Amino acid sequence: MNKLISEEFGKTANGEPINKYILRNENGMQVEIINFGAIITSLKVPDRDGKFDDVVLGFKNSEDYFNSNQYTYGAVVGRYANRIANARFSIKCKEYQVTKNEGNNHIHGGKQGFSNKIWNAEILENSESCSLALHYLSEDGEEGYPGNLSVKVLYTLTDENALEIEYSATTDQPTIINLTQHSYFNLSGDHSQEITDHQLQLNADHYLPIDQHSIPTSELSDVKESPFDFSSMKEIGKDINLDHKQLKLGKGYDHCWVLNGNGLRSAGNLFHQKTGRNMEIFTTEPGIQLYTGNFLDGKFETKTGGKNNFRTGLCLETQHFPDSPNRSSFPSTVLNPDEKYESKTVYKFSVIY
Ligand code: BGC
Repeated sequence: MNKLISEEFGKTANGEPINKYILRNENGMQVEIINFGAIITSLKVPDRDGKFDDVVLGFKNSEDYFNSNQYTYGAVVGRYANRIANARFSIKCKEYQVTKNEGNNHIHGGKQGFSNKIWNAEILENSESCSLALHYLSEDGEEGYPGNLSVKVLYTLTDENALEIEYSATTDQPTIINLTQHSYFNLSGDHSQEITDHQLQLNADHYLPIDQHSIPTSELSDVKESPFDFSSMKEIGKDINLDHKQLKLGKGYDHCWVLNGNGLRSAGNLFHQKTGRNMEIFTTEPGIQLYTGNFLDGKFETKTGGKNNFRTGLCLETQHFPDSPNRSSFPSTVLNPDEKYESKTVYKFSVIY
């Protein structure tokens, strides 16, 4: 059975204490989560020789989590992950303006999104397993969003080496919601190495092309015969530097793939040949944003030594499509007071010999 222990992590600039919660399973796999931003600060999994390494990027200095403004490192991103064009949307003919924090657009919930908030932690235990629940109340008007939104994120580490993330939320006024986990993975365990040698497979026949501001155009493109085809295992570096308009716009991959099927199903696999580490992703979400760390700039020291340079981590963010609030053809992200938002994503680790 898995175990959960808590320790002091540090203090925010305002002196508020933040705790670290360590979940460990019977195989020795371990995840560390803090109640600031619901951030995963460490995730240790074995390679094919049984050697444990940390496979998510993180800061060497704990204060950097509070002060760096690199708000996406391992955090839960919301109220709306990804972009909203012109930072504007309407629900039932009423228009709302949210914070513009990427040019004219809104990204990742605004300047002080969920990734910068202190969450209330609750340890849940039964005879089978233990989980960490994190709660946050996002008040009406925060970053311009309507409605008091009560959010819960439940992290469970199973003895099958799966990290399960279950999101739920309710609101007292119609609002929009799109939550994701923004860990930067590097399965090599050496965070100064580029992730271009990782292999990826995605269960997606289509992706959403973007414009120069990374907002989806109105097209839905077939991945076939394009650098965006990950329908069978392909090295990420194989096509990433090709002279292709979409890769130039994203400075690499920074796009949303439209996942096949619905319900909780496999979204794909990330594999690292040298270490044998494999991560399978399952989700209830319609899309997955692959972001290959194209804006990582080596500003911070990593916990494994060296700097987080260009493409030393990649994100596989399960989510609804970018700018959904302004696209009637995309699955809706509106949450009404009589509804419950529920979403689940699982990152399951194994080794391939
Ligand atoms: C976005 C990137 C962005 C990164 C860090 C990703 O989800 O797609 O464009 O740079 O998050 O905020």
